[in-house]
Amino acid sequence: MEKAVLYSLLGLLCLVCLRGVSSQNPNFACDVEGNPTLASFDFCNRTLDVGSRVKDLVGRLTLQEKMGFLVNKAGAVGRLGIPSYEWWSEALHGVSYVGPGTHFSSLVPGATSFPQVILTAASFNTALFTAIGKAVSTEARAMYNVGLAGLTFWSPNVNIFRDPRWGRGQETPGEDPLLSSKYGASYVSGLQEADEPGKLKVAACCKHYTAYDVDNWKGIQRYTFNAVVSKQDLEDTFNPPFKSCVVDGNVASVMCSYNQVNGKPTCADPDLLAGTIRGDWNLNGYIVSDCDSVEVLYNDQHYTKTPEEAAAITIKSGLDLDCGTFLGQHSLAAIQAGKLSEVDVDRAISNNFATQMRLGFFDGNPRQLAFGKLGPSDVCTKANQDLALEAARQGIVLLKNSNDSLPLHPSNIATLAVIGPNINVTKTMLGNYEGTPCKYTTPLQGLTATSSNSKILAVPGCTDVACSANGFQLDAAKQAAAKADVTVLIVGADQSVEREGVDRTDLNLPGQQNVLVQEVTKAAKGLVVLVIMSGGPFDVSFAKDDDRVSAILWVGYPGEAGGAAIADILYGKYNPSGRLPVTWYPQSFVDKVPMTDMRMRPDPSTGYPGRTYRFYTGDVVYAFGDGLSYTDFNHELIQAPQVVSVSLEEGHACLDQGCTSLDVAESWCRKLLFDVHLKVENIGSRAGGHTVFMYYTPPNVHNAPRKHLLGFEKLHLQPKATGKVVFGVDVCKDMSLADEAGNRKLALGSHVLHVGNLKHSLVIGV
Ligand SMILES: *[C@@H]1O[C@H](CO)[C@@H](O)[C@H](O)[C@H]1NC(C)=O
Ligand SMILES: *[C@@H]1O[C@H](CO)[C@@H](O)[C@H](O)[C@H]1NC(C)=O
Ligand SMILES: *[C@@H]1O[C@H](CO)[C@@H](O)[C@H](O)[C@H]1NC(C)=O
Repeated sequence: MEKAVLYSLLGLLCLVCLRGVSSQNPNFACDVEGNPTLASFDFCNRTLDVGSRVKDLVGRLTLQEKMGFLVNKAGAVGRLGIPSYEWWSEALHGVSYVGPGTHFSSLVPGATSFPQVILTAASFNTALFTAIGKAVSTEARAMYNVGLAGLTFWSPNVNIFRDPRWGRGQETPGEDPLLSSKYGASYVSGLQEADEPGKLKVAACCKHYTAYDVDNWKGIQRYTFNAVVSKQDLEDTFNPPFKSCVVDGNVASVMCSYNQVNGKPTCADPDLLAGTIRGDWNLNGYIVSDCDSVEVLYNDQHYTKTPEEAAAITIKSGLDLDCGTFLGQHSLAAIQAGKLSEVDVDRAISNNFATQMRLGFFDGNPRQLAFGKLGPSDVCTKANQDLALEAARQGIVLLKNSNDSLPLHPSNIATLAVIGPNINVTKTMLGNYEGTPCKYTTPLQGLTATSSNSKILAVPGCTDVACSANGFQLDAAKQAAAKADVTVLIVGADQSVEREGVDRTDLNLPGQQNVLVQEVTKAAKGLVVLVIMSGGPFDVSFAKDDDRVSAILWVGYPGEAGGAAIADILYGKYNPSGRLPVTWYPQSFVDKVPMTDMRMRPDPSTGYPGRTYRFYTGDVVYAFGDGLSYTDFNHELIQAPQVVSVSLEEGHACLDQGCTSLDVAESWCRKLLFDVHLKVENIGSRAGGHTVFMYYTPPNVHNAPRKHLLGFEKLHLQPKATGKVVFGVDVCKDMSLADEAGNRKLALGSHVLHVGNLKHSLVIGV
């Protein structure tokens, strides 16, 4: 949303100048108490259904007025009691100040800042995803009630983290379609769910549809990038999270992206918008453009000859709202030129109004309605801040722990060295799309609080994460390590290395950080622990393979409580249970594979290795799903079918011909279900969380994934305790594959289910 930064700054200044920094009153329409004549309008009548109210409202607007409702800074219509409304707010991992609809003030100076999404995703805990969504929407409503926030939040980002270099990978739930789908649906439910069916607490938005994951790689910009995507990859990799947002999460909005997919800008593609989102998935809500993406497809992509054509093609394709000003400026002329009809505009604004109706925006004073009691004291509550800490602890991934070096015992540590550019960072811990947090606990503060009897030697070693030769304090760092019983190195990235608009070009730690880690390790007297704070993965094979590095942790961008979570894990107050949501490739992967090659599947004829654990078979530094615990778990298969029989109608072609796969659109597919029952035992001596992953490997047809996550379930077990996990499998939904044309098929033959080291064969036959 960079193009709109200036615009948003202007908006912010203006809000500040007009409303003062601590607003008190919520923004709403149909203020019947203040203006009793409004009570006669059906659109203000709460007892009527949303459809009738929207129809009434649209019928009262002039064509000119309608134009004002096609843009994020929606127009006011005084005679109808409708104030201006700012659609653009953000709440990716906490209420954010990015987006002009929300700001902090002396009344609400900060909001709970949860870990950046990639770390929360590493918890593999769907209940946690929902709990965070609930806490965030409570804080958002509380801020709305005092005029500091909107009701429409353009979060979450559910694009697949396809390439490790992507600067926005940090915002996403990772590379796996199932995890991303579950994250999207769970977080959206947490944000949106209200007491009454059909109503919304706040409106979420799943973005950026679709196949968007190049920002700026070697000068190739998202604004003009054409993602060449096969129908198969679209169906089984890029679209599933969006489908799940709409179908399972009932999300109120989807945002189309800047990039083109196969030569068409996504916001101007009727198959993607009206066809798939609105038609196939049945979106109940609005489709919004990325900020200025309609202008971008005209000005930068030259996709249409005139601005009127750009307005016409996007609205006719199914776009309802423009983040930007373009549709407000050019839609009327498009109608006058006969390129667009008023009916299309009515459809667009009706979708927008319907969303606002479900939010209660047209129900009069929100303080008298559901959520009306929420206010500043509901923001940054102890419960929400504890949840931010819990989320960070559950996400942090222990990647190496030689000789059970961790957890540390504070009584054995007379001197602790804490070294590296990220040892005492604050804002870095939040990642992007952040808000002002309630408070910070930095890593150094967390470690200091826990190691009160140790002498602490803190040496950043580098001026910042760029860690240039300039200001490199290698000697001071080595001296500290040489004196310490334990050395904790905290390195990695921040937004200067990976962010919106900035993709990486390599996977090595930035600047001199490798040298810092290697030299400090050599100089260290005691145990060395490496902590990597980052969104995307790094090639740290040098440390993985170095016997003198005892432990490695990845801590994502852990949010406001990150330092406390890191200390809790290092000292064993919390047993780590996070698992990597992305593959950690070696540097050679990015030397070989252009970021712009969208293909998921390998191409042996050219040596193209494919992407993600589902297709890539080359060397990894760490694999998707990797993550250790301070205890051990054992799995036992209790029940799973060996055969699943499909009963086809008499005369079905596959009965005589012997097909390799069946079309799942057919009627035999309904209610083909089975359960897998597993027993899990904590065989170690510490309590801990554990995620059970069930993968399957299908027969080798249709270029199928080598394995694919079928389900995951997180449980917490006391030492020696056992737990039971049941995966309910809907064969046609969960085990079907996309064929080359993007149609769903069920492969016939032998499938293998995997859980840990267990393997179970299952034959699907007719
Ligand atoms: C609101 O609609 C209901 C149902 O049609 C109707 O009975 C009621 O009179 C309406 N209220 C007002 C203020 O018009
Ligand atoms: C660590 O950061 C905190 C918060 O910015 C600051 O108050 C403190 O002085 C820093 N500590 C050191 C040793 O630099
Ligand atoms: C693990 O312990 C063995 C035996 O005490 C020792 O030789 C080895 O260096 C240790 N490795 C690490 C990484 O601490």
